[in-house]
Amino acid sequence: MNDFINKTICGDSLEIMKSMPEECVNLAITSPPYFGCRVYGNETVGREEDPREYIENIFKFTQEIKRVLRNDGSFYLNIGDMYFGTKSGFGFKGFTGKAARKTHRHYVGRTVVDADGKYLQNKQLLQLPPRIAAKMQDDGWILRNCIIWKKKNAMPVPAPDRFLPTYEYIYFFSKSEKYYFNLKESKKSLFKGKDIITVNIQPFKKHDASFPEELIYPMIKISSQTGDIVLDPFGGSGTVASISKRTNRKYVYIDTNKEFCESANMRISETAAGTLANDPDPDPEVRPVCYFDNLV
Ligand SMILES: C[S@@+](CC[C@H](N)C(=O)[O-])C[C@H]1O[C@@H](n2cnc3c(N)ncnc32)[C@H](O)[C@@H]1O
Repeated sequence: MNDFINKTICGDSLEIMKSMPEECVNLAITSPPYFGCRVYGNETVGREEDPREYIENIFKFTQEIKRVLRNDGSFYLNIGDMYFGTKSGFGFKGFTGKAARKTHRHYVGRTVVDADGKYLQNKQLLQLPPRIAAKMQDDGWILRNCIIWKKKNAMPVPAPDRFLPTYEYIYFFSKSEKYYFNLKESKKSLFKGKDIITVNIQPFKKHDASFPEELIYPMIKISSQTGDIVLDPFGGSGTVASISKRTNRKYVYIDTNKEFCESANMRISETAAGTLANDPDPDPEVRPVCYFDNLV
């Protein structure tokens, strides 16, 4: 496991996780590429032609995350939804921003799977996150919350016949009934003990899909203790690793993109350990501390 801890690992996380031992991390927090959205370079998910294939591919990663997660660990999965037939929601006439150009590149030389008049219909909100979450439940995960991440600065999309999406899902899963959860910390945090969190999008340098730090900090504080290992298999700009280090946790960062790995490595090395650590060392006798045997 020492080969993975506090390292920025550049490669396909599905393969890399396969070489990690079972039940070796305490917490996983991640956001995989969204379906038909951004082009990062050498990503292995997100460019499928058929959304159902995307669901299958993401599911394979979640299976590997489940294997490497300790039985008393938790997993926060942030995933965005997409519309069918509109080329990721950016394909509207007149939308010519950076995202549209990237999306256009994405679709050059390939077609999206044909509409079937049923699930695959133009304008259909694909409900990818709940479909993935349901598959994970069937695989044995316990879904504890469907957190709404509300963004006040959600990107405007000029769709004339629907509402502007302003939130994303973050699924909070456990592997078993007993897992570490710091209820006191959850009440003190931006969550205020509830399942909706309002945090604006903040791109980090070249990575325009990075997690805002304010979103990740509470999850790490609520669902891990000092010295625990936090995994992000789609590490990007290194937000999860950087907050883990600042809160005196250990991290496992994986990303396929060499440029992201290098800049995350720099970000993490410039991060001073423990600057956000204000929690006491855990007592090994009482780990995990927050079990409520009679409550669900
Ligand atoms: C939505 S971004 C994650 C951003 C990250 N949460 C942050 O805070 O910067 C998704 C990332 O997954 C990476 N990626 C895509 N396929 C991958 C794979 N098979 N293994 C590892 N990383 C992958 C992309 O390079 C991209 O950086």
